[in-house]
Amino acid sequence: MKYNDIDFNNKTVLITGGAGFIGSNLAFYFQENYPKCNIVVLDSFRSGETLSNGNLKSFGHFKNLLGFKGKVISGDINDKSLLASINEEYDFDYIFHQAAISDTTASEQDLMIQTNVNAYEDLLKIAIKHNANMIYASSAATYGDSDRFEVGFEQPNNVYGFSKVMMDNITYKYIEQGVDISIVGLKYFNVYGPREYFKNKTASMVVQFGHQILNGQTPKLFEGSDKILRDFIYIDDIVQANILACEPKKSGVYNVGTGKARSFEDIVNILQKELAIDNGKEYIPNPFVGQYQFFTEANIDTTKENLGYKPNYEMEDGIKAYLPEIKRLFDVEVKK
Ligand SMILES: NC(=O)c1ccc[n+]([C@@H]2O[C@H](COP(=O)([O-])OP(=O)(O)OC[C@H]3O[C@@H](n4cnc5c(N)ncnc54)[C@H](O)[C@@H]3O)[C@@H](O)[C@H]2O)c1
Repeated sequence: MKYNDIDFNNKTVLITGGAGFIGSNLAFYFQENYPKCNIVVLDSFRSGETLSNGNLKSFGHFKNLLGFKGKVISGDINDKSLLASINEEYDFDYIFHQAAISDTTASEQDLMIQTNVNAYEDLLKIAIKHNANMIYASSAATYGDSDRFEVGFEQPNNVYGFSKVMMDNITYKYIEQGVDISIVGLKYFNVYGPREYFKNKTASMVVQFGHQILNGQTPKLFEGSDKILRDFIYIDDIVQANILACEPKKSGVYNVGTGKARSFEDIVNILQKELAIDNGKEYIPNPFVGQYQFFTEANIDTTKENLGYKPNYEMEDGIKAYLPEIKRLFDVEVKK
């Protein structure tokens, strides 16, 4: 499905973080719809190295790219000599910057700022040199403790959210300076869908609850989960927003969600209904209180107006579309 009339054939597209969840979905969108698109994936891939919270430092996984026919580069966006050689070797038309420490619970402030903020500016400079549009991943985590989910009301409560605010600030600075390229920041809300499984514990609760249920376990929810509401957004709508952001003169920072908050309890209810399995529910204390968002709901007015974005998936639709893949992963990855 094409989201607009831009012809990406014979265009060169860089996808940083392309072996991760959202990046790999973008890579396949281009491959499937524009067979002559020159797609370059740059990702550090997983090495086994972990952060102090025990999670992997990078989640890139080759299985997210099985069937991919473009170019794959394994490398770190913090490596300035690598960026210099990529800058020389290619002439990009679009850069989709998804690479990041995507773990919202990571506490390594140095690595987070270096990777998410400083490397973004380095890539932005490449985009400017190449006259390439820059579309990058910001986040709903920028809103943190805010009760207004509208650009300008950010109040991050962890270093991850802070890093994304700093990326947005860099963006505003360059836009104000009047650069020729479009720079678009997309504040994704809680994304779920195929190719997230290898994010392990940081994958969405949709796939995690799905596998608990298929495994015969009682899904474990945080206490008060019927009142913990988030804007859960299906991956196809995220791809849609990225593609719409490629149109000329769209510079700015936009929310990408459904505009409708749903509870974690809803996820379990929908999954158990669709799977026709009722394992009940178990409630556990929330260890993240203090740096946890209890409510998010994207205001998508300007995203609709300026980008022409229209979410196609309510949570019921997204989960239904995702279920065959959740079951396949359970058979192929979980049960083995
Ligand atoms: N998934 C969500 O719900 C969500 C929500 C808001 C924002 N985001 C943002 O969207 C982007 C993509 O997230 P995702 O869910 O696909 O996560 P992900 O972890 O699957 O993808 C990020 C990719 O970046 C790679 N990476 C990490 N550090 C790198 C480095 N130094 N050099 C090169 N590659 C590196 C990882 O290997 C991984 O493949 C991230 O910027 C994330 O912060 C995601």
